Amino acid sequence: MEKLTCKKLMRMWREYWEQNGHTEIKGASLIPRDNTVLFTTAGMQPLVPYLMGQKHPLGTKLFSIQPCLRTNDIDEVGDNRHHTLFFMLGNWSLGDYFKPEAIRWSWDFLTNPKWLGINPDRLNVTVFEGDENVPRDDVSAKLWQECGLRADQIHFFPKKDNWWEIGSGIGPCGPDTEIFYDTGKPKCNEHCDPSCDCGKWVEIWNNVFMEFNVPTKGAPLEKLTQQNVDTGMGLERVVSVLNGYSSTYETDCFADAMATLERITGKKFDFSKDYARDFCVICDHIRAAVFLLGDEQPTTPSNVGQGYVLRRLIRRAVNCARRLNIDSNALSEVAVAFINYYKDDFTRFVEVEPFILQELQAEIQKFAKAIDSGIKEFESITKEYKAGDTLDGKNAFRLFDTFGFPLDLTIDLCRERGINVDKQGFDQAMKEHQQLSRDKSGAMFRGGVAEAHDEAESVRLARLHTATHLMLGALKRVLGDYVEQRGSNITPERLRFDFLCDHKMTTDELTEVENIVNEAISANVPVVCESMTPDEAKASGATGIFDDKYGDTVTVYTMGEYSKEICGGPHAKSTGELVHFKILKEESSSSGVRRIKATIEG
Ligand code: ALA
Repeated sequence: MEKLTCKKLMRMWREYWEQNGHTEIKGASLIPRDNTVLFTTAGMQPLVPYLMGQKHPLGTKLFSIQPCLRTNDIDEVGDNRHHTLFFMLGNWSLGDYFKPEAIRWSWDFLTNPKWLGINPDRLNVTVFEGDENVPRDDVSAKLWQECGLRADQIHFFPKKDNWWEIGSGIGPCGPDTEIFYDTGKPKCNEHCDPSCDCGKWVEIWNNVFMEFNVPTKGAPLEKLTQQNVDTGMGLERVVSVLNGYSSTYETDCFADAMATLERITGKKFDFSKDYARDFCVICDHIRAAVFLLGDEQPTTPSNVGQGYVLRRLIRRAVNCARRLNIDSNALSEVAVAFINYYKDDFTRFVEVEPFILQELQAEIQKFAKAIDSGIKEFESITKEYKAGDTLDGKNAFRLFDTFGFPLDLTIDLCRERGINVDKQGFDQAMKEHQQLSRDKSGAMFRGGVAEAHDEAESVRLARLHTATHLMLGALKRVLGDYVEQRGSNITPERLRFDFLCDHKMTTDELTEVENIVNEAISANVPVVCESMTPDEAKASGATGIFDDKYGDTVTVYTMGEYSKEICGGPHAKSTGELVHFKILKEESSSSGVRRIKATIEG
């Protein structure tokens, strides 16, 4: 049989679902339209409004091949199966078919020799064991048995394993049934089952039966008006396990990039070698950078939001290149290898290739400059040091945090002077820092809108969100139509908004913005939410992001004459709820971008 490749599996996926009456939704942008999370992390994300009951213009049976970006396990990238960017194959029923069809189709695609032809003995499935709210999923278990699985291939697990919800814990959710491939490795002990991560079992496909909703954090489950199916299969992972590869990096999508690195380093890629991780991290991160820069809503490196993630990805890749003793310009060649591989499916890459390479190169140069300043700082810190002295962890961490100095570079420089480095102290400082940023990113999750802990808090957050829209409308009136959102973050205390503006705002301008928002509040206009096509939204003068990829609908929030924006909510019901608006601070955020912090009384 012809070898399975990522390209082939993508082709099969399209063919299979088209044959079975599904319509393809083109992969959406990596930057979610509704700004509720930093990146698209699952194929279902662009579908949330439709899982909740809105009509999708392409029907009730859909499928997609969606690039996704997850940064939660960025530190595990470089092992044999974690990636930041990966492709998720998904099929959906929006209130159409449910468990029987979903399970039978999954079984058919996996085991039918016409498709993947997996030996059923290799498959095990897990099913929700039930809890006080939702009964044990005997329906799915029975369906799997009818497909041909033995009882010992079906495992019942609790909510932590067999329930799927978006990371925020808010929105559509439900029990799932996960399909595992048995790699054939011996059991690590007698209890070894698909919940074990010894490497014997690899999850290849998840079928979620979304019939519930959590309206606000911690609220009881509600039944949705329709029963949905949401599935996700990791493309690179499936190709890798079915070919018996020891890692996803052996799949065809990485082949040219790996060959480029092998040519430049003169080293053969081999997982048993200590440099393998550097090869993998470069491939993973440069591929992710290519997709972020080449996205229809391009991200460029910066110190905030998505731009900061991109900056970290590129700089980590540069550090790996340094460890491999290769010029960081080699990373552009790796990028070209990915652009060439993907340009048949992502035709826009042909056009934006110069932009991708130029931005990548610019960031590499910027990092080189930062490292030069870091070396100066290092020299000034260690000026008085003698051989045998120790550089403390706090300073080593400062070099890392402020100048992007990787620890091993600090160690190298210290070694040349016979100085030791307090590595434990560095780890400690790093841990404290990570703790802090985790708290921060938790608060950032709803993209800017912090997670609410109770009903009162969620009302307050929605009102601050409404104030943010009114303020953007006012900024456009005072400064000009060029003003565009660059970032938004809301906590119960205040809103924070970054926007394009080339000068420090004057006191008069700030007062004018405040007055306009307060006028909108006094007018107590209703906040109206409507669904429309992107064309209608554009014609209506709404601000926001327009993509012309599919005849999708968007949600537009209108606040009288003051604001009309494409957005996913949530918002106040009317502007009067905000009571009074006040700007707390205006400052620079990055070049050409200003930041306002403001609050409301409501
Ligand atoms: N949304 C489900 C997942 O990401 C299918 O696993």
